Amino acid sequence: MNKPRETFGSRIGMLLAMAGSAIGLGNIWRFPYTLGQNGGAAFLLLYVIMLVIICLPVMISEYLLGRRGASNPFRTFDNLAPGSKWRWIGSVAVLASACILSFYCVVGGWSFKYLFEACTGGLMSYQGSYADFFGAFISNPWKPLLYTLLFLGLTGLIIAFGVRKGIERMSKIMITLLFVIIVLVVIRSLSLPGAGQGVRYMFVPDFSKVTANTCVAAMGQAFFSLSIGCGCILTYASYVHKDENIAASSGWIAFFDTSFAVIAGLAIIPAVYAIAQMNGVDPDVSAGPGLVFITLPGVFKSMPLGGVAALLFFLALMLAAITSAISLMEVVVAYVIEELKRSRLHAVLICFLLCGGVGVFCSLSFGPLDGFKLFGLSVFDFFDYITSNIMLPVGGLLLAVFAGWRLKRANYLDELTNGGKLNIPRWLCLTIYYLVKFVAPLAILLIFINCILS
Ligand code: PHE
Repeated sequence: MNKPRETFGSRIGMLLAMAGSAIGLGNIWRFPYTLGQNGGAAFLLLYVIMLVIICLPVMISEYLLGRRGASNPFRTFDNLAPGSKWRWIGSVAVLASACILSFYCVVGGWSFKYLFEACTGGLMSYQGSYADFFGAFISNPWKPLLYTLLFLGLTGLIIAFGVRKGIERMSKIMITLLFVIIVLVVIRSLSLPGAGQGVRYMFVPDFSKVTANTCVAAMGQAFFSLSIGCGCILTYASYVHKDENIAASSGWIAFFDTSFAVIAGLAIIPAVYAIAQMNGVDPDVSAGPGLVFITLPGVFKSMPLGGVAALLFFLALMLAAITSAISLMEVVVAYVIEELKRSRLHAVLICFLLCGGVGVFCSLSFGPLDGFKLFGLSVFDFFDYITSNIMLPVGGLLLAVFAGWRLKRANYLDELTNGGKLNIPRWLCLTIYYLVKFVAPLAILLIFINCILS
């Protein structure tokens, strides 16, 4: 039964798998519209501050705990603090991943549908408004379900091949392709006349839009985008070699992820501005979740070579979604394999049924179930809100508290420097440690309190 644990085959494979987890719908679908709703550059600035003082230290800690504990989230906490209640935090992380996957696969399904339509030419030849196109699709009781389950099935298929042959190999191929495609789309977008307005919008801050809610939104977005607080980084880190430089790898992943979000913004926002100017209407970049699925197809349709750009864009969206979905599913699968002693295939099946089952309700909340509300939110919005804005930051808070207060300082620093083998300046190690111990937990708490009081 005790087969040796799988590991990543190479450093670059590990980095791309982790970057694949981080780079996803959060960057291409969620980031541009959240930016649009929260004052453009002001939000970006806030996002970067949150990233440096909260998210990067939490990410380093999640990585560190994962490598040290070398197991699924539940067992990791049990290994590091035997018999304590902390392992339940691990179980909550597994639950959070399952909840995210349940609504993530719905949007993954939409990308699948749009990719399909872009391939067959159905998207560009559509004559009506794209709001109707999108609305008719997501409110249909069957079609989105089919795409959601197809997306989840594809994710499961990759996971079934294991860490090296499934996750690592596919992440390498998909992330490389993704970068090439998005750069092509950015070039197309920026070369449109009038695109400069959109670029200005992204980089010139409007602080009048910043409220307590903006801070929660920026924090939630940073947690969501970096895949931290729900055991994904922890689980991937458990497959990492003991000689990896944790701080450097985390820094690289955060850098890739943020750059990618900005690049995705540059692929979308300037194009929306340019086409709006061409058609003599006001640009609408705060269109919410519909930005990518409603506004963008119209933008592609109006621009030269738009059909190719649409195809590449939705391919990129789909690739990004899959590499993130596999990291979410792997958290649940690793847990089922190791704690419930099932085979990998069996675990994939259980996860498919579980997340697919909840996913069905998330998907139906745009159609037959749209009158059904949980705390005033549709099932889909409820899962999106509680996971990104509550479960992930609370998960991050607990991870930081565990790493800063339960793990001994000597052990933290020892793991960070690989037992003193790495030449990381002492001041840097201590800065990371104190950010984890004091700054990150306090900042998360303050943001929550500020939001509750306002
Ligand atoms: N980071 C992913 C994205 O940006 C989503 C995700 C969240 C993946 C949490 C894993 C864990 O789309």
